[in-house]
Amino acid sequence: MINANSKIAVIGAGSMGMGIAQVAATAGHEVYLYDNNNDATSAALKKINYFLNRSAEKGRITDMEAKTIFGRIYGIETLSGVADADLVIEAIIENLEIKQKVFQEIESYVSDTCILASNTSSLSITSLAAGMKDPKRFIGLHFFNPAPLMKLVEVIPAIQTDEKIADVCIKAMENWNKMPVIAKDTPGFIVNRVARPFYSESLRIYEEDIANPLTIDTAMKELGGFRMGPFELMDFIGHDINLKVTQTVWKSFFHEARYKPSFSQTNLVAAGFLGRKTGKGFYDYSNDIPISEQMEVDHSKKQEVFNRVITMLINEALDAAYWNIGTEEDIDTAMQFGVNYPKGLIAWGKEIGLENVNAKLNELYSQYKEERYRPSPYLFS
Ligand SMILES: NC(=O)c1ccc[n+]([C@@H]2O[C@H](COP(=O)([O-])OP(=O)(O)OC[C@H]3O[C@@H](n4cnc5c(N)ncnc54)[C@H](O)[C@@H]3O)[C@@H](O)[C@H]2O)c1
Repeated sequence: MINANSKIAVIGAGSMGMGIAQVAATAGHEVYLYDNNNDATSAALKKINYFLNRSAEKGRITDMEAKTIFGRIYGIETLSGVADADLVIEAIIENLEIKQKVFQEIESYVSDTCILASNTSSLSITSLAAGMKDPKRFIGLHFFNPAPLMKLVEVIPAIQTDEKIADVCIKAMENWNKMPVIAKDTPGFIVNRVARPFYSESLRIYEEDIANPLTIDTAMKELGGFRMGPFELMDFIGHDINLKVTQTVWKSFFHEARYKPSFSQTNLVAAGFLGRKTGKGFYDYSNDIPISEQMEVDHSKKQEVFNRVITMLINEALDAAYWNIGTEEDIDTAMQFGVNYPKGLIAWGKEIGLENVNAKLNELYSQYKEERYRPSPYLFS
């Protein structure tokens, strides 16, 4: 059981580790923060202090609370400092061998009851657990960026994980004011799997020259209520990162046609046009011209674009439900609270009418004769 007295260790003090440490300390825990680069730990502590003080300035917490929360986070310089932790959450570099090595060292310091969790986005929790002496206490706890703001946590038991560990983690995440969902240990878990068509179908429409990025972005925002369009979002995330996730999901699904990467994104990465961070992606950020003035919106194409992308997203969410990746409720919660979708996709599909979703997929399937447009068995079984 994780209670207020439980000590939490966070390994890796980058974007995610820093946020997770702040969340755990805000929930009342003493937190050990470790990074193999001491400068990263110091920088993370400075940033956490800054974020807490800003929250206090905005009146969300008091000055005293900001100080108390910050006072509960201890930067540690050696991994052995995690010895009395009750839960260790790892958020280091995305590399199976390095993560396993770090966990093996952690396992040699902590007690038998300590829960070991990874925040990995793309590695198999089962493979990580397989490197442990005691894989029963190993689990995935996938937070979303920025962790203090995003409510969702995917709780991913490995096939070796003791059932009780998942229950303990669900309760702990609720106490941390998060919205936990249980996801099956499959590539992309819920969110990174179900969100694929937002990018891939949009890229496909663009590559077929049906509509330009601004038309597609405008369609998804105006007709769907998405906060950002797919091209703006890919430019924001960085094409290197977005392409890597797509490639990992595609390969892990044995080259499933629905997840196939796109040549236009591969080329952007090859050219170094990674999006906002390099000043250029689908849009140009190197001058003052707003995105909305960089291309013409073809208003006549908006409905067609929206229908196609939303249909593919709904099909993906239904398919995840069909294969028990999560419950229907959890899949809808995950997309709303992990990536801010305006509605849960399964509820959205039911609103549109599943027969209409099925009909649109069949129309695309007969038009293209491609596997990627086949309806999920959810729609006809
Ligand atoms: N960035 C995201 O949006 C996001 C979201 C969810 C999950 N994740 C996952 O979280 C993990 C961390 O991602 P991030 O974006 O915070 O990365 P990051 O690069 O910002 O931070 C990683 C930190 O880990 C440290 N590190 C590397 N190797 C280490 C080791 N052997 N021991 C201790 N520390 C080590 C680095 O010094 C760095 O400070 C990854 O597994 C990633 O897949 C990332």
